[in-house]
Amino acid sequence: MTTFKSSLRILYGFYYDFNRFFRYGGWKKSTNLKYREYLAVRIYHKLEKCMSFSDRRVDAGQNAAHELIKFYESKPKNQELGFHESIGLTVLTNYRDQSDIPLALSHKIQLLLDAFTYDSHEPTDYKGYIESAKKSNFSFSTSFESAESFFNTRHSLRSFTNQKVDINDLSRAINLARTTPSVCNRQSWKCYYIINDRQLIDYALEFQSGNRGFGHRIPCLLIITSDLLAFHDSSERYQNWIDGGMFSMNLLLAIHSVNLGACPLNWSRGPGRDSAFRNKFKIPINENIIMMIGVGHYPEKYRVCESARKPLSETMIELKKK
Ligand SMILES: Cc1cc2nc3c(=O)[nH]c(=O)nc-3n(C[C@H](O)[C@H](O)[C@H](O)COP(=O)(O)O)c2cc1C
Repeated sequence: MTTFKSSLRILYGFYYDFNRFFRYGGWKKSTNLKYREYLAVRIYHKLEKCMSFSDRRVDAGQNAAHELIKFYESKPKNQELGFHESIGLTVLTNYRDQSDIPLALSHKIQLLLDAFTYDSHEPTDYKGYIESAKKSNFSFSTSFESAESFFNTRHSLRSFTNQKVDINDLSRAINLARTTPSVCNRQSWKCYYIINDRQLIDYALEFQSGNRGFGHRIPCLLIITSDLLAFHDSSERYQNWIDGGMFSMNLLLAIHSVNLGACPLNWSRGPGRDSAFRNKFKIPINENIIMMIGVGHYPEKYRVCESARKPLSETMIELKKK
């Protein structure tokens, strides 16, 4: 195919995606329950995060609490509560019960809760955070007895100790993550790392938007990229993100398997921040940044967000012929 024809196909491909995102993406406000569900978890997760911080600022979470209250106030009358909306009310209740919440905010939350006669059926003992077992009770690689004990003990950890990360542990995890499957085995990924360099990690994290309240505790920072050169025509225009994302997930599990904790950090950045970061850190122009990952050691005691999962029936759906 000529270069001209290929360029047209690429344009058409992006137009197709643009059109789909423009028409169906969540960027437009809606009162639709499905849309509200995504919004609910996005807001209440901020509260969950605050409650999981070991050195939480007194005023942490207040903006998110107000945002969540506004969210419920805008709920269309007679619309049932969705899964995440119910969880959000439970998280709000637990947030209100924290000892350091201003009285006025606590009243406001109570008024809201009174207005919602909600059925806290999902799951009833939900707190928003898991007060971890002690590290010694935690299932580590030598004692991962089942798939469940491995998968269900991985959480995004945000309260790392001061202990340095050993380069051998990091390299073992990255080596394991290389087992990630990829389209035609192209392995377009790379993992850049900054280890035990407080100043450089803080500087890199200034470009990222989701590490407030815990970034200063991250002792090792990974930057995952995926190479656009590996993808050859317009039908592969997103393979880059898929393969890079799969590598990132495998890496998170590999880090878990070598007894380290990790927190994925989004790279949902606009062009300005993205190019500023790649210039400062000399990330090759043909590589897309997929995400950052903070890595470190578990403290003896720690909290992680509970991060409720939607019911299996919303994920596992048998496809039938019409
Ligand atoms: C691509 C990606 C980006 C994320 N970005 C952030 C982030 O910027 N800050 C943060 O605290 N957590 C971030 N997370 C962690 C999610 O909040 C977390 O995975 C989710 O709540 C599920 O919790 P769990 O990882 O403990 O199971 C991110 C997760 C993913 C997969």
